[in-house]
Amino acid sequence: MPAETPQPVTARLTSAAIFLVVTLNSGAQHGAAVRGVCADLAALVRAVGARAPDGQLSCVVGFGSDAWERIFGTPRPKDLHTFREINGVHRAAETPGDMLLHIRAERMDLCFELATQIMLRLDGAVTVADETHGFGYFDERNVLGFVDGTENPVGQSALDATIIGQEDAAFAGGSYVIVQKYLHDLKRWNSVPVEEQEKIIGRTKLSDIELDEAVKPTSAHNALTSIVEDGRDLEILRHNMPFGDAGKGDFGTYFIGYARSPGTIERMLGNMFVGKPPGNYDRLLDFSRAVTGTLFFVPSASWLESAAAQAAAGGSGGANDAPLQSVSRAADSRGSLGIGSLKKDTRHEQSSP
Ligand code: HEM
Repeated sequence: MPAETPQPVTARLTSAAIFLVVTLNSGAQHGAAVRGVCADLAALVRAVGARAPDGQLSCVVGFGSDAWERIFGTPRPKDLHTFREINGVHRAAETPGDMLLHIRAERMDLCFELATQIMLRLDGAVTVADETHGFGYFDERNVLGFVDGTENPVGQSALDATIIGQEDAAFAGGSYVIVQKYLHDLKRWNSVPVEEQEKIIGRTKLSDIELDEAVKPTSAHNALTSIVEDGRDLEILRHNMPFGDAGKGDFGTYFIGYARSPGTIERMLGNMFVGKPPGNYDRLLDFSRAVTGTLFFVPSASWLESAAAQAAAGGSGGANDAPLQSVSRAADSRGSLGIGSLKKDTRHEQSSP
């Protein structure tokens, strides 16, 4: 376990979430504005979260490849790149995004208030590419009617699956995240017999039990996304949420997957969209269209704190947009960074998985 304090990546699944993907406007001062928000983020989460102590408010912030240097300068996380579009049997589209805010709470008012406060600070600096409000739906189900998240790693396994260690020492405590917004053809899905649906997912619908290998097709969703390497399961942490507009007939799943290497999620996507072997693709995609696709790096909370402190010293939020050099070295020199605003009560920022 790295000494750096991670962001609350492994905070537990809540009944409300807001996913905000924004792009950075052109203009030298905007990178500094983003760093200024990073400096205030922990305090904002505390201020909003304190109004509902049981609300489990948390916020994870991630950054896209194209804007990394503009916001933070060098160095950059070693595996940070833009989302790699896949044109297989189905298409996994790449869409723009320089910054992700993943806001979770037990109540939508908390998520909404925090999103509002953050966007007020970012006014003029960013343009919203996508905002999705997710909701919990009947015993952790998605709108297809299946329980979603069952096989997520928990506890130490969740940390091991998501938090970077010495493989990228300068960014230890960080994580990668891929988001994709899927729209389902629910009418057609609901016309498929339940037994067929179960073979597409690989689990029973009502009781959420994994299908026996003897009946589970190799194209089942949970077969294609199970990757074993050297006898070890390569895991990711998913915090998918349903969303939709009943009146418009929009029914969706917001996929959000965290991993310590983006390659793990990319291999799963390859298996789903191209197939394993090619052509043996995920039939879930016959009913689900990925309309967005973006990859972000999630620095550790310590790293962000340190970056923000440097920005403040150099005039964060003002016209000074000099990239931050050697932020990671500053973080390293302090060892375990339970300092500054991170040191305060983090009840609302970090909860056990
Ligand atoms: C339309 C979007 C998606 C839907 C509705 C969906 C739904 C589900 C459901 C119902 C399960 C079984 C219950 C569970 O273990 O959580 C599952 C499992 C899983 N999904 Fe997805 N999923 C979607 C997209 C993705 C994507 C894009 C990935 C990865 C790139 C992914 C990775 C996984 C993994 C790793 C598992 C657990 C497999 C296992 O070990 O059993 N899913 N998903």
